[in-house]
Amino acid sequence: MDTLAPATFDVARIRQDFPILSQPQARGRPLVFLDSGASAQKPRVVIDAMVRCMETAYANVHRGAYRLSELATNSYEAAREATARFINAVDAREIVFTRNSTEAMNLVAHGWGRGVMKPGQAVLISELEHHANIVPWQMLRDDKGNELRVCRITDSGELDLDDLEMKLADGKVGLVAIAHMSNVLGTVTPVERIVAMAHAHGAKVLLDGSQAAVHRRVDVQAIGCDFYCFTGHKLYGPTGIGVLWGKPEHLDRMPPMLGGGDMISYVTFEKSEWAPVPAKFEAGTPAIVEAVGLHAAIDYVTAIGMPAIEAHERSLVDHATSTLATVPGLTLLGAAQDRGGVFAFALDAAHPHDLATLLDRAGIAVRAGRHCAEPLHTRFGLENGTTRASFGLYTTREEIDILAQALTEAREFFR
Ligand code: ALA
Repeated sequence: MDTLAPATFDVARIRQDFPILSQPQARGRPLVFLDSGASAQKPRVVIDAMVRCMETAYANVHRGAYRLSELATNSYEAAREATARFINAVDAREIVFTRNSTEAMNLVAHGWGRGVMKPGQAVLISELEHHANIVPWQMLRDDKGNELRVCRITDSGELDLDDLEMKLADGKVGLVAIAHMSNVLGTVTPVERIVAMAHAHGAKVLLDGSQAAVHRRVDVQAIGCDFYCFTGHKLYGPTGIGVLWGKPEHLDRMPPMLGGGDMISYVTFEKSEWAPVPAKFEAGTPAIVEAVGLHAAIDYVTAIGMPAIEAHERSLVDHATSTLATVPGLTLLGAAQDRGGVFAFALDAAHPHDLATLLDRAGIAVRAGRHCAEPLHTRFGLENGTTRASFGLYTTREEIDILAQALTEAREFFR
């Protein structure tokens, strides 16, 4: 369905799909929602699909021999198939539903890191990762002794590929785990190149697509990675559902992280045998209604067209880059050539929380702090963090102008 040309992208019409965008805000101001990188708003079709599921077709899945359970099971598995198509997976069985990207990365750290990698093998991440792609590897290191290496980034916020090559060169890296797009710098990393370099040195690749999958078309076969993960709530879907895609031969080798119902083929008091993937990784009652919501979200963005969404966001990035450059005292973090709609900044010496509070009074919702990426802020000497504006498909150029104007006024206020 990716057929809409960018010219057909009508942001005013798209905004009507999101009920929250027309809710009156405090002091009668319109909502300027610039925190989609943390969690995106939901279109009516997602809300309706979830309500409809609960009102008409809800029961537990994979269990009941009655019609309603069959309906719910079909909806749950249809969501898996839609997810597989969305990222061009070969087969729906390569899709594991998790709670979020964090859980997906922990699942790889557990299943691949503890279950398959040798203790002498290292994990290679980068300075631009958020905590979900740092902490699980520290836990693995502390538990099993696997070295954790960190690839440097340049001052403009791009991966230092010479450093990546150097850190891969001894052939000891078993897994490279890198964000496809930074949640702070907006940097889109050269994933095909990373995969080629890692594979040449015998390492597998996990890509954290939490931000990227929202902004551009992801094709896991074309990228050639081994694992890819993203989350539903940033993709205009509900919270509580995330996705781990893995090559089937890797998923087959990974031990499960959680034990319980649905992930077994048989159980005795002496031993149990695991069900085939993906059930092996989905112990207990899964997020059924959330899967239905994710399916609706995927259908929604697919009908608009990921290329059209990407083109819209590129035009927002261009507009923000030039508009925010005119704000006196504003320093933008990162200036990567290939970047998505995330702008973290500092305004003179204003504390990010004070700035965000002031912007909130103007009806502008932004995130302040370290955005779950504390080492990255330390790398840039910004221990107090930054303020971050992040865009969604409903973001307009006018909203960026409102932000720039509010920042200019905030500077006067702080002076
Ligand atoms: N990692 C998410 C963010 O960037 C929560 O805000």
